[in-house]
Amino acid sequence: MTHPRDIKTLDPSPRLLMGPGPVDVYPRVLRAMSTPMLGQFDPEFTGFMSEIMVLYRNVFQTQNHWTFLVDGTARAGIEACLSSLIQPGDKVLVPMFGRFGHLLAEIASRAGGDVVTIEVDWGQVFDPGQIADALRQHKPQVLALVHGDTSTTMAQPFEGLGAVCRETGTLFYSDTTASLTGNPFHVDELGLDAVSTGLQKCMAGPPGTSPVTLSDRAADHIAARKHIEGGIRPDGYVQGNGPRISTNYLDLAMIMDYWSDKRLNHHTEATSMLYAAHESARVVLEEGLEPCIARHRLTSRALRAGLTAMGLSLFGDPDHRMSNVTGVIIPDACGNGEKLRAEMLNDFGIEIGTSFGPLAGKIWRIGTMGYVCRKANVLRCLASLDATLRRNGVTPPANAGIDAAYNVYAEVDQ
Ligand SMILES: Cc1ncc(COP(=O)(O)O)c(C=O)c1O
Repeated sequence: MTHPRDIKTLDPSPRLLMGPGPVDVYPRVLRAMSTPMLGQFDPEFTGFMSEIMVLYRNVFQTQNHWTFLVDGTARAGIEACLSSLIQPGDKVLVPMFGRFGHLLAEIASRAGGDVVTIEVDWGQVFDPGQIADALRQHKPQVLALVHGDTSTTMAQPFEGLGAVCRETGTLFYSDTTASLTGNPFHVDELGLDAVSTGLQKCMAGPPGTSPVTLSDRAADHIAARKHIEGGIRPDGYVQGNGPRISTNYLDLAMIMDYWSDKRLNHHTEATSMLYAAHESARVVLEEGLEPCIARHRLTSRALRAGLTAMGLSLFGDPDHRMSNVTGVIIPDACGNGEKLRAEMLNDFGIEIGTSFGPLAGKIWRIGTMGYVCRKANVLRCLASLDATLRRNGVTPPANAGIDAAYNVYAEVDQ
């Protein structure tokens, strides 16, 4: 048994994280995380909370007042939204095009929803008309839809769905963990009622907090379910008419009270994660959302040109790929691809991902997100992949990957 005395201080190896996330964190964000604690009701700290609301309204492109953080990884944001929106027995429509659609269905069912799923093959997305038809047929109380499903690297088009949800009286929720700020996503224009995300992909922050935004319609629906826990109920408190939200930690009605001017105590805000979320949003907004998305598109284009020139095949519907992660079909000679992945990590310090379920051992996933999304990293990745492929029985044409990527950059530099 290891004695605690023999355990050394943490000293993680330098890596280039080019998997499906988490990715390398912006140095500014790491610095923000090492700044001092403040008490959670210190006016300076509550001032930072108010700034978070402003910053994330801009990140989500919304006027929604209720825009704040749920402590926990992105899954906490999903669970908070779905558990707070779905009342027991509510019908919930979940279109599934990858692993994270399954996750939404699982969470919706645990929240007591009567879940109806529709499915397409992994690597495809729905025509929005298919989802509109299912909405009109089932008239669900909630539509829960992933925007970018990291497991398949696909991005679902949302056009027209917000309007259909209004027509069918449906609250429209989306998980944008994988896609936000690397792909266009305008919460208000799309007519969404609830959206959650994470920092660890295109925003290049650490995993551990989940920004959330709620329309007034969603906020009113949740407020009607408010049952404040004993010991902190304010004078004159009247509980909501709706059924109590089944989770305490992820009860958005109580979390909203904490983020309101009332500052009604709930959990202790995760101070360092709030600092990270603050600085990640500042970095993204300083660059600008459009330039940030354009950078993700260009980098993926260069990476994909390089991979294709090396004789590799890309995975999934080419018209609906996310611009921050690329699926590559593992060549037969590389078996399940794990030996090559280990060589990329151990010999070159570069992490790339595999996938889940039907795609495990079938595709590699290469992320070009946030701080990692840069020309130098594309070239490093292609050069290392070329070397490791050669050691695994695949011989790409000499320099083809690097040259093709350079050519993409040359087009835009002219
Ligand atoms: C699309 C999507 N949704 C949800 C999650 C869950 O996020 P977390 O692991 O931070 O809880 C992930 C994580 O990779 C994701 O890619």
